[in-house]
Amino acid sequence: MSEKQTVTPRPLLVPVQGILLPDHIAKDIDAVLAFCPHPSDILIAAYPKSGSTWTTEIVDQLLHNGDVESCRRAPITVRTAFLEASERVRPKSGLLHLKELVPPRVIKTHLPIQIVPVGFWEKKCKTIYVARNAKDTAVSFYYFQQMNLSSPEPGSWESFVHKFMHGQLPWGSWYDHVKGYWEEREKRDILYLFYEDMKENPRREVERIMKYLDLSLSDDVISRIVELTTFKNMKENPMANFSSFPSEIYNQSISKFMRKGVVGDWKNHFTPEQSAAFDEDYEKKMKQANIPFKTEL
Ligand code: A3P
Repeated sequence: MSEKQTVTPRPLLVPVQGILLPDHIAKDIDAVLAFCPHPSDILIAAYPKSGSTWTTEIVDQLLHNGDVESCRRAPITVRTAFLEASERVRPKSGLLHLKELVPPRVIKTHLPIQIVPVGFWEKKCKTIYVARNAKDTAVSFYYFQQMNLSSPEPGSWESFVHKFMHGQLPWGSWYDHVKGYWEEREKRDILYLFYEDMKENPRREVERIMKYLDLSLSDDVISRIVELTTFKNMKENPMANFSSFPSEIYNQSISKFMRKGVVGDWKNHFTPEQSAAFDEDYEKKMKQANIPFKTEL
């Protein structure tokens, strides 16, 4: 471990309008919430570990006609912005980064819908939400919090599942997050995607995104984008796999950012008892919402 890792403590979580955020993000959140986008900006929203990087890569490729050189012009964290990022997570804050990018900018956020800057709705920006089933999201988040030194320690798997079920993780409750965007998707014209659908039929989902963005690309270009954004190709692509990211922030010797990229990895982590308790609680929280999540393909 480098000297910097030893001296930089893991952050605390601070409530912002009832949502827990890492302290380094919470400290400048007022400016983030006042951000005013350009009407052509595209917002990609997701609870952490739901496939936001994958979706962001697809959108950047669609905007660049699947041109390999354009999409390898810089790491994804430079090509696209992370709205609420602080200087602890990125070389510069999301707001400073946004000033350097030219609209249409691809802007990722993990903010729940009720605190997304109102400008995105007022300007009618295209908004894509990607959701992933709760159990796989929890597993992915557990590994991510181990390697992401700018987030709190995840603790044991047992305690992590407890925190997930009680919304005590960065960006709050998964349940409220996925329901919030689901309930507003028609009114606010949000394209609501599922990670599992993207795995099952990536071409269909890439075409849905393309149409939503009012783009029309040739079949060949669509095929190329589907190919360039497979898990394998993104994992091998230094411009998509975060390999250039400082190890003081993402320590990929602990766990890779591009870890497994599958549906159903939860079966390797939840004990039968954990799974039953999780399902019972899930039913209570999610029954009314009726969101068609798949936990296996
Ligand atoms: P795993 O940890 O299960 O592997 P996010 O980008 O929102 O942080 O989500 C990260 C998750 O999406 C990780 O899941 C990562 O491997 C997965 N992922 C990233 N790119 C992917 C792709 N092209 N295909 C499938 N999964 C992908």
